[in-house]
Amino acid sequence: MQAAMKTRNSIFISCFLLGAAALNAATPTFDKDVLPILQKRCQDCHRPGELAPMSLLTYTDARPWAKAMKTAVLTDKMPPWFADPNYGHFANDRTLSKAEIDTLVAWADGGAPEGNPKDAPPPRTFQDGWNIKPDMIIEMPADFHVPAKGTINYQNILVKAHFDQDTWVVAAEMRAGNPKVVHHMRANVRPPGSTWMKNAIPGQAYEEGSEAMAGAKEGADLLGKYNPGLGAQTFDVGDSAKFIPKGSDIVFNIHYTAVGTPQTDRSKVGLVFAKHPPKQRYWMSPGTPAAFNLAIPAGDSNAEVVSEVTVGVEGAKLVYIQPHMHLRGKDYELRLLYPSGESETVFKGKWNFDWQVGYQLAKPILLPKGTRIRAIAHYDNSANNKYNPDPTKTIWWGDQNWDEMQSGFLGLVFDVNTDVDKVLIPSGPSLLPRAAFGPTLATLGK
Ligand code: HEC
Repeated sequence: MQAAMKTRNSIFISCFLLGAAALNAATPTFDKDVLPILQKRCQDCHRPGELAPMSLLTYTDARPWAKAMKTAVLTDKMPPWFADPNYGHFANDRTLSKAEIDTLVAWADGGAPEGNPKDAPPPRTFQDGWNIKPDMIIEMPADFHVPAKGTINYQNILVKAHFDQDTWVVAAEMRAGNPKVVHHMRANVRPPGSTWMKNAIPGQAYEEGSEAMAGAKEGADLLGKYNPGLGAQTFDVGDSAKFIPKGSDIVFNIHYTAVGTPQTDRSKVGLVFAKHPPKQRYWMSPGTPAAFNLAIPAGDSNAEVVSEVTVGVEGAKLVYIQPHMHLRGKDYELRLLYPSGESETVFKGKWNFDWQVGYQLAKPILLPKGTRIRAIAHYDNSANNKYNPDPTKTIWWGDQNWDEMQSGFLGLVFDVNTDVDKVLIPSGPSLLPRAAFGPTLATLGK
C-alpha cells in the first residue's frame, strides 16, 4: 500500500517536473524574447513622456500588462497601423510578424516570466527631447491656454521666422510642449507675399474658419507634423530636401484635446538644414487630392466620395501618403491611373481619426505626366458610428470636426526648378458640382 502510494507520488512529481521543464523550454522570457520586441515595436510610444498611458521599458513596467498586450496584438489594436497588407510596401510599417505575435502571446500564457537579465539586450536610449539635432527651432511665442472641458476647434498660430536666405531642410520634428493635450499638429510654410492669414497677429491663436484665416494658401508647404508616435520626418529620399523661401513664416495648426483640468501648451518645430543643395525638391501636397464638393447623405453607413488630381509635370515621384478625413471616415484608397491606361492601387487602409497615420512608400513610384491620382473614401454617417456627431444631417466639406473632409497629404519629389502649383491639378470628380451624394465612382461611369 505504502509502496504503491510512493510510486504514485513519484510519478506525479516527475510528471510535474517534466511539465515544468517543457514549459520552461517553450515559454519565452521577458529578458530574452519579449524585451527586444518591445524595444523595436512599442517603446517609441510606451515610455515616460510619450503619449501611451503606460511605460513598457522594463519587466516591472510591462509585467502587469502581459494579458492586455496579448489582447492588443491579437486584435490588431497595437501597434497602430491601418494599411491593408495586400497593397503597397511601407518603410515605416509597424505590423508585427507572426513570430513576434506568437512570442508575446506565449509569454502571457506562460505566466509572463522574467527570465535571466543576462539575456536582455541593452536598454534603448532616448535623447531627452529631440530625436534630431536641429539647426533651427521655431517655437510658439506664447502659451495656448487649453480649457478643462469641451471640444476645441483647430487652432492656427502664425509665428514669425527668420529665414534670411532660401533654405533647404532635410528633416523636421515637431515637439508638443504638453503632449497630454496636443492631439496632433502641423507646421506649414507661409511664403512671403502669401495672402493666407495676412491680417493675423503673430502668436495669437485663431480658430479654423475664422476671419483671420482667410486668404489663398498659394505656394504653402507642409513642413512638419506631429501625431502620437510619428517622430521626426525626413525629406532626403533620393537626395531631396524641403524648400523654404527666404522671408517665409510658419503657421502652427494644432488640434488640442481637453483633459479635465486647465492646461497650457507651447509647442515647437525643429529643423535640420541640408549640407549641400539637393538634387530634388521634397514637397507635400496641400491636402490634395481633395473633394471640396463632397456630400454624405444622412444615415448612409457606406457613403463613397472620390477625388482626383492629375500630374502636370514630368519626373515626379510619389514617396508618402497620409489620408485625412474626420469622424465619419471609414477607409481610404489611393489609385493611380496611368496615361498608358493601366491602373494600380498603391494604398488601401482603414481610417482612424485618432491616429492619422502617414505611410512612407518603401520605393518611390514614378508618376508620368498625365497620371491621374484618384482617392476613393467611404464614410459611415449612420447612428451605428459611435463617433458620429450627428447622423441626421447631410454632410458637406468643412474645417470643423463635425463637418467632413476627403483629402490627402501626398509627399512627392521632383526637379528643384518645378513650379509647385503645376504639379497636381484638380481633375475629374474634383471638378464636378456638388450633388446630393458623392462624387462616386458610379457617377463617373467607372
Ligand atoms: C504609435 C504609438 C504606439 C505604439 C507604437 C504602440 N502603442 Fe500601445 N498604445 C498607444 C497609446 C496612445 C495607447 C492608449 C490609447 C489607446 O488605447 O488607443 C496605447 C495602448 C496600449 C494598450 C492598452 C490597450 C487597452 O485596450 O487599454 C496596450 C496593452 C498596448 N498599447 C500595447 C502595445 C504593444 C504591445 C505595442 C508594441 C507591440 C504597442 N502598444 C505599440 C500607443 C502606441
